[in-house]
Amino acid sequence: MNKCKLSIIGLGNMGKTILNGIESSNLINPSLVGLYTLEKDVLNYYSNKGYTIFKDEKDLCDNSEIVLLAIKPQGIEELVSKIKDSNIKCLVSILAGVSIDYYHKNFNCPIIRIMPNMPLQINKGASAISHDDKVDKKDLDLIIDIFKSMGVVNIIDESLMNDILVVNGSTPAYVYYFINAMINDAVKRGIDEEVAKEMIIQTFIGSSLMLKNSNKTIQEQIDAVCSKGGTTIEAINTFKEKNLDEIIHLANTNCINRAKVIGK
Ligand SMILES: NC(=O)c1ccc[n+]([C@@H]2O[C@H](COP(=O)([O-])OP(=O)(O)OC[C@H]3O[C@@H](n4cnc5c(N)ncnc54)[C@H](OP(=O)(O)O)[C@@H]3O)[C@@H](O)[C@H]2O)c1
Repeated sequence: MNKCKLSIIGLGNMGKTILNGIESSNLINPSLVGLYTLEKDVLNYYSNKGYTIFKDEKDLCDNSEIVLLAIKPQGIEELVSKIKDSNIKCLVSILAGVSIDYYHKNFNCPIIRIMPNMPLQINKGASAISHDDKVDKKDLDLIIDIFKSMGVVNIIDESLMNDILVVNGSTPAYVYYFINAMINDAVKRGIDEEVAKEMIIQTFIGSSLMLKNSNKTIQEQIDAVCSKGGTTIEAINTFKEKNLDEIIHLANTNCINRAKVIGK
């Protein structure tokens, strides 16, 4: 049997999202994509689609060139104990907090570390990639192409991989939280929930596209909405008085610190 080109261990939210991206990009034939996850139903589903299913983690690693880990960080030690003797050509990890150095201590192969985010599901993702200097350019290019097919990719220094969590990995939840708080407040004021939801989400999409596509700076865009003596400036001034920037800084610090604890 030929080795699989790329195989994924762990088909939860992220593993399935990445697999869908590989499928839509047509970069690798499904028969050359290997899979292993704990849920048998999930494996049956992908087996019927032509993917190669392995009987366990070790079997997958022994028969694959590139192995992508997509399990929760809490399970990494147990997984490593099962696969550390495999002859993996290139290991790719999306686990928050787990460093390249940790993998080097356990594997004698090149390591690529990725921090993706959930909007990959709709090809609007943002993925940060770091890697060691042993990685084969062809393997790296394949990984970059896969993630580029689902959004933007930036190569960053590994030392920033925990910090980048608060730029892309965790931030979709911040955005949802902020949108939810705005909807709840609108509803309290008597606005229909569905109306509020539609308009607030559309406003986030529209405002983000304005930032992306216009030559104006972010401050110029803020100023364009906040006329002097008008209404919006009152809201922005309240954010400043209540030190929203400081709250964001504290939330980010706690998020990053958790990644550091998980990675220990
Ligand atoms: N979700 C995000 O937005 C996001 C963003 C950036 C990075 N990440 C990273 O992505 C990773 C996966 O996150 P997720 O949200 O996809 O988690 P998830 O939904 O819990 O998926 C993990 C999957 O791996 C399976 N699994 C656990 N141990 C396994 C093993 N030894 N062999 C095979 N399969 C195993 C789990 O099965 P059971 O459920 O049966 O345990 C589950 O299906 C995490 O390390 C996280 O840090 C996630």
